[in-house]
Amino acid sequence: MKDNIITIDGPSASGKGSLARNIAAHLNFDILDSGLLYRVYAYLFDSGLEHTKIVAHIKKNILFKTDNEGLTIQEGSEDITGKLRSEKTAKAASKISSLKETRNNLLELQRGFYISKGLVADGRDMGTVVFPNAKLKIFLIASPEVRAKRRYLELQNRGQEVNMLALIEDIKQRDLKDQTRVLSPLIPAEDSIVIDSSEMSLDEVLSFTKKLTKRKLNK
Ligand code: C5P
Repeated sequence: MKDNIITIDGPSASGKGSLARNIAAHLNFDILDSGLLYRVYAYLFDSGLEHTKIVAHIKKNILFKTDNEGLTIQEGSEDITGKLRSEKTAKAASKISSLKETRNNLLELQRGFYISKGLVADGRDMGTVVFPNAKLKIFLIASPEVRAKRRYLELQNRGQEVNMLALIEDIKQRDLKDQTRVLSPLIPAEDSIVIDSSEMSLDEVLSFTKKLTKRKLNK
């Protein structure tokens, strides 16, 4: 019996987050943005916490809030969403995520997001390592240029200054790092369905995914 889980893996800015949010709302499933957990982990490590203390700190002090504005993350009373979404934290997350200690520490925390009603989990290794028994596995890709443009608009909307060429370079380097690392590399699970969204709108990706959920989850 497979788990009531949809995994969406793929490189950065391929549209995983938007697809995950929309599908989760459509099915009334919970959601796990695993990249954000890696970002929180990197942020806490850089602020001086040891590996052994980070997960307990996340459970005790980090608050994930979803409202009309989207997802916000608070540490105590401080809103740290902007810091976590910066390219600086993305790079730190990419670096620390290649360590065995980091991946092991976050494994159970991620699995704990699956309660009975169903889960949409996005990241790099959701279908291969964290939820290998998921009912539907999607691997979402798009060209580096298309992804850099999406990330550019996203960061600009948050008021962050960005250089397009530097962004393309950053994305390519991060992809290479994620794809070639020894532990949990970014690769499609054998039983995943690959969607190339380079020339598709979010609505098109969404309606295709809804057809898949009908077929695989009967929903
Ligand atoms: O998805 P996002 O860009 O927020 O992820 C930040 C970094 O966290 C990625 O570049 C990747 O190195 C790491 N990550 C990971 N495994 C996941 C999710 C994210 O290694 N499941």
